[in-house]
Amino acid sequence: MRISVIGCGYLGAVHAACMAALGHDVVGYEIDETKAAVLALGDAPFYEPGLDELLRSSLATGRLAFSSKPEVLADAEVHFLCVGTPQKRGEFAADLSYVHAAVETLVEFLSPGDVVVGKSTVPVGTAESIRDMVSEAQPLAALAWNPEFLREGLAVKDTLAPDRLVYGLCPGGEGERARAALDAVYGPILAKGTPLVCTDLSTAQLVKVAANSFLATKISFINAMAELCEATGSDVVAVAEAIGYDPRIGRRFLNPGLGFGGGCLPKDIRAFMARAGELGVDQALSFLREVDAINIRRRTRMVDLAREECGGSIAGRRIAVLGAAFKPNSDDIRDSPALSVAEQMWLQGADVTVTDPAALDNARRKYPDLRFAETVQGAVRGAELVLLLTEWPEYVDLDPCDLKRFVARPRVLDGRNALDPEIWSRAGWSYRALGRTTTPADAQTWRAQRP
Ligand code: UGA
Repeated sequence: MRISVIGCGYLGAVHAACMAALGHDVVGYEIDETKAAVLALGDAPFYEPGLDELLRSSLATGRLAFSSKPEVLADAEVHFLCVGTPQKRGEFAADLSYVHAAVETLVEFLSPGDVVVGKSTVPVGTAESIRDMVSEAQPLAALAWNPEFLREGLAVKDTLAPDRLVYGLCPGGEGERARAALDAVYGPILAKGTPLVCTDLSTAQLVKVAANSFLATKISFINAMAELCEATGSDVVAVAEAIGYDPRIGRRFLNPGLGFGGGCLPKDIRAFMARAGELGVDQALSFLREVDAINIRRRTRMVDLAREECGGSIAGRRIAVLGAAFKPNSDDIRDSPALSVAEQMWLQGADVTVTDPAALDNARRKYPDLRFAETVQGAVRGAELVLLLTEWPEYVDLDPCDLKRFVARPRVLDGRNALDPEIWSRAGWSYRALGRTTTPADAQTWRAQRP
């Protein structure tokens, strides 16, 4: 198929490269000239394991190109909308200006028979208004909604081997044409038996925000249990393990700690609440307000713990923060819990040094007042307290005996319940974690597999 991908951020760049890898002729249209040029050289403008290689191999076949010129859209027959829908400044609602601008550009180049496929996460009802724009400009074009469930850090795998595909289709011939085009695009993925859910436009839009809301709720649920554990001296990691064995609950996405951040879950649950309000069903999602509140409280709790550890005040104290990205294997710092904690501690006068394997450049740009170090040793040198806030594998695997040589006091706060408390305690560190007793009563609990 001849495919265009409109908007080459995390979603679009990965989608373009993966569609070319499936054998299609793909052009990525990216309004930012520099980004388009970088992508055309086979470099991802962000950290995503495996993407550079895939871009380069696909570019080499001649089946993938990137351009900042909208005219390239004219050659494609299937157009994927992959632009961002960030949170509006000062509001919960999603900013749809990029989506509308993308569609306005696209409709200029549509031909009869073209299929426009929305992938951006949008408030339910948006696809219907895009359909109006498309059919007004080109009555013989079709619209479908095909939400994306990729996770940063695993984006290539999630695109080429997704858990499921969802098509939101219009009724009648328009839907049939869109379905045929999508089946052709995803042929190799469908051939592997990937489940496919075909539904209408509004349900498809809802599926995406429902999925992210459920994931956010799961995380906040276990973090609410962490609050209880802190009040009762219980161990939230053992709670997660024990309830997670019930297949109806499941252990995945039940890792207690600093909570969720990033460019998706926080803004998606807020936009969902805003949309529910517009639809007059805000009560249905009032629990998401609590999900959000629990999530934010974990960050404050982390700062409180740091203060407790430092005897009531962190002013002037040397504190090392391991992790800046919102999660490991990403350089994304949007709504990063780690940087939020680092900033709060800095505002309270602490002498904070942050390190991260991939997100330092982004973090430096956004938080010019914070201090950064390229290496763990550089960050922890002379520290009175070390905070693990993003569970990069290289931090989880740190040797506490070795690290002890660099710090002023061996005290660690584990914001992700990712370190082995027994090993760290045995190495002479004072270990505390969110949702666990000061010294782990039962270190065996820890050894249970962290999925
Ligand atoms: C999320 C969803 O997982 C994807 O399915 C979805 O496609 C994507 O949003 C999107 O809407 O585009 P992502 O933002 O890449 O993906 O990150 P997640 O892996 O969901 O992690 C989100 C946050 O939750 C991270 O800060 C992570 O540290 C935190 N988290 C995750 C926990 O605190 N506990 C857990 O058990 C799992």
